[in-house]
Amino acid sequence: MENATKYVAGPEQKLLKRFVCQGCHQQVVQKQLIIPFGPREGEQIIANYGCICDDIKLAEAAERKYNLLKHSKLRDGFNYYSLTNKSLQEATLENYDPTNNNLTVAKQKVAEYIRTFDGEQNLLLSGNYGSGKSHLSISITKKLMEQGFECLFLSFPKLLTKIKRTYNMKDVSEDELLEVIQRADLLVLDDIGAEQQTEWSASKLFEVLDDRAGKATVYTTNLGSAELKEHVNERNFSRMMDNTHVIVMKGSDYRRRAF
Ligand SMILES: Nc1ncnc2c1ncn2[C@@H]1O[C@H](COP(=O)(O)OP(=O)(O)O)[C@@H](O)[C@H]1O
Ligand SMILES: [Mg+2]
Ligand SMILES: [Zn+2]
Repeated sequence: MENATKYVAGPEQKLLKRFVCQGCHQQVVQKQLIIPFGPREGEQIIANYGCICDDIKLAEAAERKYNLLKHSKLRDGFNYYSLTNKSLQEATLENYDPTNNNLTVAKQKVAEYIRTFDGEQNLLLSGNYGSGKSHLSISITKKLMEQGFECLFLSFPKLLTKIKRTYNMKDVSEDELLEVIQRADLLVLDDIGAEQQTEWSASKLFEVLDDRAGKATVYTTNLGSAELKEHVNERNFSRMMDNTHVIVMKGSDYRRRAF
């Protein structure tokens, strides 16, 4: 009987307590009330007035989305930055035209690498200038991106320049650059060994390799293995050779083939 009068009189609200929410640090008024209509009519609930935890969650989700977008913008900026060369922009596996048997095999091995991509296996393309190392490694990123993998193509010397530049830039930090690199499913580090040989560049290389431990990387270099080891130092070299398939590309400079 008592219940019925209350119900007829409208939603009964009983003040339970006032407190500061642990989540949002707002003053919260907690009330007990009975839902007056709708499918849950008559149900007794406890409501917190003044708590903005849900709003904060929404704002956080929006921020995460913004960061993702910022990352993808950074990544695209990176790729463009490295791909200033127009003919490399158009490089695909299909338009790689091997000029000798060795390069035919290299192309087949690259196709096999793409076909069996597991996110962990690394590749080292070693060979002379103009044999098509950058061309083939860009082809890998194009094919894998079609399959939904996040790929990044970076010239290692240019990356170092870019990192140095972040030291006096406000919009991008070195950490943000390294995070984009760390996230990629496949990273191409192009032209290793063409950077200035310093302790700093060796330490940056180690940082990148260490951050990506266990994730697939394609390296390209003009250096032979002994020179590469000497250039990047023993510790980096042994990291680079861990779970890495080496493809040696011997061929004259494709750009000079007409001469
Ligand atoms: N076998 C090939 N077929 C078609 N284009 C090639 C071939 N080899 C090289 N190229 C082109 O020649 C240029 C130099 O090749 P690149 O991949 O940059 O050589 P590397 O990185 O080995 O120095 C690029 O524009 C590339 O697209
Ligand atoms: Mg190259
Ligand atoms: Zn709250």
